[in-house]
Amino acid sequence: MDPFHAAPIGGKEPCTGREPLHSDSRGTRPERPVRDLPERLTLNPEPIMALFGRSKLSAGLDIGSGFVKLVVVDHSKSEPEIVQIATSPLVPDAIVEGEIMDPALVAATVRSVVESCGLKKKEVVAAVGGHDVIIKRIPMDRMSQADAREVIRWEAEQHVPFDMENVQLDFQILDPDGGGAQMQVLLVAAKRELIENRLSLLADAGLTPRVIDVDAFALHNAFEHSHPDAISGLVALVNLGHESTNVNLLEDGKPLLVRDIPFGTRRLREALQRERGMTADDAEAILLGKADGTDLRRIVADRVDELAVGIERAAAFIVAQSGGEGIGRVFLSGGGARIPGMAEALADRLGVRTEVANPLKRVAVRPEVLESIAVEEVAPMLMLPVGLALRTN
Ligand SMILES: Nc1ncnc2c1ncn2[C@@H]1O[C@H](COP(=O)(O)OP(=O)(O)OP(=O)(O)O)[C@@H](O)[C@H]1O
Ligand SMILES: [Mg+2]
Repeated sequence: MDPFHAAPIGGKEPCTGREPLHSDSRGTRPERPVRDLPERLTLNPEPIMALFGRSKLSAGLDIGSGFVKLVVVDHSKSEPEIVQIATSPLVPDAIVEGEIMDPALVAATVRSVVESCGLKKKEVVAAVGGHDVIIKRIPMDRMSQADAREVIRWEAEQHVPFDMENVQLDFQILDPDGGGAQMQVLLVAAKRELIENRLSLLADAGLTPRVIDVDAFALHNAFEHSHPDAISGLVALVNLGHESTNVNLLEDGKPLLVRDIPFGTRRLREALQRERGMTADDAEAILLGKADGTDLRRIVADRVDELAVGIERAAAFIVAQSGGEGIGRVFLSGGGARIPGMAEALADRLGVRTEVANPLKRVAVRPEVLESIAVEEVAPMLMLPVGLALRTN
């Protein structure tokens, strides 16, 4: 089974990309100069990138369907330091299945989160993900980066089921020093409309994106920073959000496969509402551990199957392709990691050691931030914005 057809997102390797691809719709070489891509492959909104120089503060913005999250990192010292964290819930159904239903409302929430941080420069690092982004490892005849840039659009046509006229591509040669006739290339394709919508939402919120990253890359980035000791064997990073779960399978720290599973905490809340005749607010309070939820653990255990099956399918695909053992460890993040009984239920169902990931584990946090927010409580939700804000360019 092809990973691409199994799910909209395929596999990737570590991203140390150097040159972004800025193709036009005819696949001809762009006239704009190619800038160095920093530490990872990224879909850069090229004209906007040109406006910025280096900034010491980097603000990672995660517009989730449940919560908007902003993390500001100061890169001026030898080690990065988190200097601001802000989160705000979104009105229910403002974003549904990744689609922004009410852009004005989402922009207003984003604006309020940014204002609460008092950011002077309204620049952020943001990300896109979901069904309109494809990450896939593809084989190509070995050639230089420059030659690959010339032909990548034609190569991509064979692997990407989107209308190529309306796709933004980026790529990275994964084995530039390899000697074989073929090379492995990491291809990222995002629907142009997705990027444009994100850019216009940010503009409505008064923000300018410094970079548009890919969700899965930012999650991996945060994990590498926070859990560098946990990179041996097959590891599953599972970011359980409000509506969807992003699964990154890493082998010895190298990403192999990325999948989105349409399962989130919203599903649990709705199950509680249905089964116990509760209001959404009461059910949410139980999920947050703020109200007594006698059978929450049973409900979580019943529903976790859906998530576990998605993770197992992704792992089975990898094992079938490259052999080896199954998943050795699971790291759970996202708001779902906070739900009482979730990590245990997943561990039991998968039969795999499952820990809650903490993106702040090895990143300094300014004392004022620790005083102003229950950092431990929100930490798992911050995997993505921390991964974005840790970018240094
Ligand atoms: N302390 C907490 N604060 C906020 N939400 C929490 C907390 N603990 C658990 N949750 C749950 O986590 C959910 C939010 O998680 P997260 O921020 O990862 O989702 P999201 O990024 O908004 O969603 P998605 O990625 O699916 O678009 C909430 O809807 C809530 O059910
Ligand atoms: Mg999320």
